Amino acid sequence: MRKIGVLTGGGDCPGLNAVIRAVVRASMQYDWEIIGIKNGWKGLIDGEIVILTDYAVSGILPKGGTIIGTSRTNPFKKPEYVQKVEENIRRFGIDALVAIGGDDTLGVALKLHQRGIPIIGIPKTIDNDLSGTDYTFGFDTAVSIVTEAIDRLHTTAESHHRVIVVEVMGRNAGWIATVAGISGGADEILIPEEAFNIEEVCRNLRSRYERGKKFSIVVVAEGAKPIGEGMVVTQSDEKDEFGHVRLGGIGHSLAREIEKRMNVDTRVTILGHVQRGGTPTAHDRVLATRFGVAAVELVKNGDFGKMVALQGDKIVPVSLEKAVSKSKTVNMDLYNMAKIFFGKGKVKDFANPTNENKYSQVYTTYDEKS
Ligand code: F6P
Repeated sequence: MRKIGVLTGGGDCPGLNAVIRAVVRASMQYDWEIIGIKNGWKGLIDGEIVILTDYAVSGILPKGGTIIGTSRTNPFKKPEYVQKVEENIRRFGIDALVAIGGDDTLGVALKLHQRGIPIIGIPKTIDNDLSGTDYTFGFDTAVSIVTEAIDRLHTTAESHHRVIVVEVMGRNAGWIATVAGISGGADEILIPEEAFNIEEVCRNLRSRYERGKKFSIVVVAEGAKPIGEGMVVTQSDEKDEFGHVRLGGIGHSLAREIEKRMNVDTRVTILGHVQRGGTPTAHDRVLATRFGVAAVELVKNGDFGKMVALQGDKIVPVSLEKAVSKSKTVNMDLYNMAKIFFGKGKVKDFANPTNENKYSQVYTTYDEKS
């Protein structure tokens, strides 16, 4: 019998439990024992585990969060932590590890793999910013939550003739803002990939008012920033173990600027961790399940140092190096298409047959060459 360790690291995300369940259930056919490592890499430093039986994963498929806990612990912060991790892997008799996480967690997985530990990665993040995969699970759920919020904010904005600024997650990549902004019919979408000009934003909103639309919805990603100001807006400058500051607050400063320049009643909604909580969508449950089963197959084949990824409609292995090499930022074809709906994009850019990117904003989200 083989022993497989499973851990979830970084921010939680809808679909984590669906992956854990899939790993346990798929492993049963090989008669492997699955060891849940508590609270991400911290559990391997502290030696905290739980045995994940078939019974332990019963009923967890629709449950948000992660039954084994998570943390933003980085074992490479101190050499003695790495030593502990390696000692505990030996102590618990773990033959292979499945690490479910975003770029930080999988960055640690890559370093441990380079030290000889057999590891498989599974891509998780509501931000959808991992390279090598078209989508991460959790993203679809976050987009659904934000879309519903925008729908609700539309009716109140319209009734009060207000501008409502909706701040969403997205540190380096504005995937949630872009996709939920399109699906919710936002009147402006601001993302980290393109610094915004506040005058231009207000010009666009004013032109809506002149066209008789006396309300507007502005979706802004937490990592977006105005042209010329180098800094993103933070809640605290304290850094986590991977060097990230806590973002948040751009919505308020943006709303102040809009109100001042336009003299229109303006409100802010910060969706925050609501975007990460609760039950996963059907799409995320299926994707998470496919990833979990594929990870077990890679363990079975001894194909370590890989991350399972969605490319097109297939689940394929990609190297951990590739997955963590850089953030997958928003496909600008998609973002530029969204601009058509807030008065800045031109349809002809997409309809021109000589344009080699023709229609790509509709059919692709991940460009292998980028
Ligand atoms: O995991 C990614 C993310 O959702 C980012 O978009 C956000 O900045 C961060 O998590 C916030 O996480 P926490 O407040 O849990 O540390």
